[in-house]
Amino acid sequence: MSEEKNREFMKSDFSGSVHQRSDQAKGLPFPPLQKEIPEGASKPINLPDPDPGVVVKPEFYQLLKYRESRRQYTEESFSLAELSFLLYATQGVKEVVGDGYATHRTVPSAGARHPFETYLGVNRVDDLNPGLYRYLPLDHQLTFLEASDQLPGLLAEANLGQRFVGQSAVVFIWSCIPYRAEWRYLNHAHKHMLIDVGHICQNLYLAAEALGAGTCAIGAYDQAAMDTLLELDGKDEYVVYLAPVGKI
Ligand SMILES: Cc1cc2nc3c(=O)[nH]c(=O)nc-3n(C[C@H](O)[C@H](O)[C@H](O)COP(=O)(O)O)c2cc1C
Repeated sequence: MSEEKNREFMKSDFSGSVHQRSDQAKGLPFPPLQKEIPEGASKPINLPDPDPGVVVKPEFYQLLKYRESRRQYTEESFSLAELSFLLYATQGVKEVVGDGYATHRTVPSAGARHPFETYLGVNRVDDLNPGLYRYLPLDHQLTFLEASDQLPGLLAEANLGQRFVGQSAVVFIWSCIPYRAEWRYLNHAHKHMLIDVGHICQNLYLAAEALGAGTCAIGAYDQAAMDTLLELDGKDEYVVYLAPVGKI
């Protein structure tokens, strides 16, 4: 498959047809949650219950245990320090390598390509006016894009009516610049990019829990509306994933 076709595959298409045609919508039984063990296989080995005692840093066990997708947030704001931590956890640069060829960050990325940009829809962060921003990971800065006090409504609409997205303190929106990865991996890049962005969001889940906050991954959004909101061309840069974050 060509790079162009693969780029399309990475986008969100919730036009309705997916849910109408799925086997779930047709009432077919759900598939088993786990692959059966073959007949005649030896008896399964019981593992001990997960034990926080084996973890040298026990808070990590708590983060895993209590992590869940959180869709209700308080009115509390984030401090700039808390936002800084969330950005560092998701895309923070630890070093630039090879004369600017690649970066090593707090998340892994195939070939260290890190083909994403992080946009923020800010509703409630101390010292920041509500509006759209973009993270500049190389210098750990934000660039201000546009003021908006309409963000809650716009974000709810662009996320297929998921109102909690707009009600969060800040929405992390990850766009992809596919050429940054295609430059190295051609049409193999796209599979890697979808895996990469999962790592980013997982770090956001754990970092948010560590702050007494919560997040929820969002894959069901209106592709054109989100790209338009961020003024992305939808070809060389487009939204791939987002996550609202708020205090809980
Ligand atoms: C790729 C992906 C897309 C998701 N999209 C949405 C979404 O659009 N809306 C939503 O409310 N939850 C979304 N979720 C959250 C899942 O519904 C949630 O992870 C799942 O129900 C399991 O719950 P837990 O995260 O609390 O364990 C998404 C999760 C993933 C990983």
